Amino acid sequence: MIIMEVQTNKISIERSKTTKINEVDFDNLKFGSVYTDHMLVCDYKDGAWQNPSIIPYQPISLDPAAKIFHYGQSIFEGMKAYKDADGQTWLFRPLDNHKRLNISAERLAIPEIPEEFFIEGLTTLLNLEKDWIPTQAGSSLYIRPFMLASGKGFHASPADEYKFIICCAPSGSYFSGKVKVLIEEKYSRSANGGVGYAKAGGNYAGQFYPTQLAIKKGYNQVIWTDDNNHEYIEEAGAMNIFIRINDTLITGPTSDRILDGITRKSILDIAADEGIKTEVRKITVAEVVEAAKSGALKEMFGAGTAAVVSPISTFGYRGVDYELPELENSYASLLKKRITDIQYNRAEDNFGWRYKV
Ligand code: PLP
Ligand code: COI
Repeated sequence: MIIMEVQTNKISIERSKTTKINEVDFDNLKFGSVYTDHMLVCDYKDGAWQNPSIIPYQPISLDPAAKIFHYGQSIFEGMKAYKDADGQTWLFRPLDNHKRLNISAERLAIPEIPEEFFIEGLTTLLNLEKDWIPTQAGSSLYIRPFMLASGKGFHASPADEYKFIICCAPSGSYFSGKVKVLIEEKYSRSANGGVGYAKAGGNYAGQFYPTQLAIKKGYNQVIWTDDNNHEYIEEAGAMNIFIRINDTLITGPTSDRILDGITRKSILDIAADEGIKTEVRKITVAEVVEAAKSGALKEMFGAGTAAVVSPISTFGYRGVDYELPELENSYASLLKKRITDIQYNRAEDNFGWRYKV
């Protein structure tokens, strides 16, 4: 591999001389399973973040005593880059992802990353990887910024060295087919005072086993309830949850236990703009079951960067499956169209969310 060295203000670029792009079937993209030619790496050492570098996509080398392996000190973000009909590249509310990464960093005792490293690093990387942004309907370039403790030691305390990395994966939809969820009453995703509001890697690892149990029963996802009495609907594994009862769209308030989703808050604003009545309040499982029985329950959907707006077809609770009606003009399809039209630059963005790369 022949390498070309370029130096921007702060970010050094080592360009890959080869590309894998011709090996990718852009018409049949899965979610997050092929990666672009470059990645951004930034090291924290001697008490400071060093200048980031963009290098050819490659494995990283870590000491077996690195604290990520022992104490799970790691966090991540999920974002997407979209290409419009004129070939321009767009991000959606990227400063919010930067802010949330640093909220997660604080909770996991990881040093915060400066905004310029995050935004300049990301936009420089995206300028290099433009050709990797899919234009097929429903596809985009999924972006995974993450931080991990690379410093070593078996002492259970924060590491003294970290890595901030950004990788990109051209991706299709997160779910294939209908989303069937199981309302969980035994296991919990998070607890008051815990790390549920952070995008900590361990939050997801802790969900794998209960989710596998749900998959064995024929569901795709778990709906988490509060850890106290499993009384309130909280969120799904990778999405915030919306519930439509009659014509009111309800979602739970964010808390220590729930991720403050960027899609969630955008959906709330778009719904209000559409004149849809919204409520941010605690919602009990009993209320949802009752509404399902009476026919007042019209829709349930998940919202998240990876999942966009994913309608739920069925929810399972205490051995009973409740089917959701299939509506002609659902809120989910209206809201999905509005948000994706903004993301892909197909419509005016009156909210100021779209960010040109
Ligand atoms: N909830 C959880 C647990 C998530 O992992 C995600 C995905 O990022 C979301 C909600 C949705 O958040 P956002 O819309 O910011 O992607
Ligand atoms: C995202 O929606 O970007 C997420 O981070 C969810 C992830 C677990 C796939």
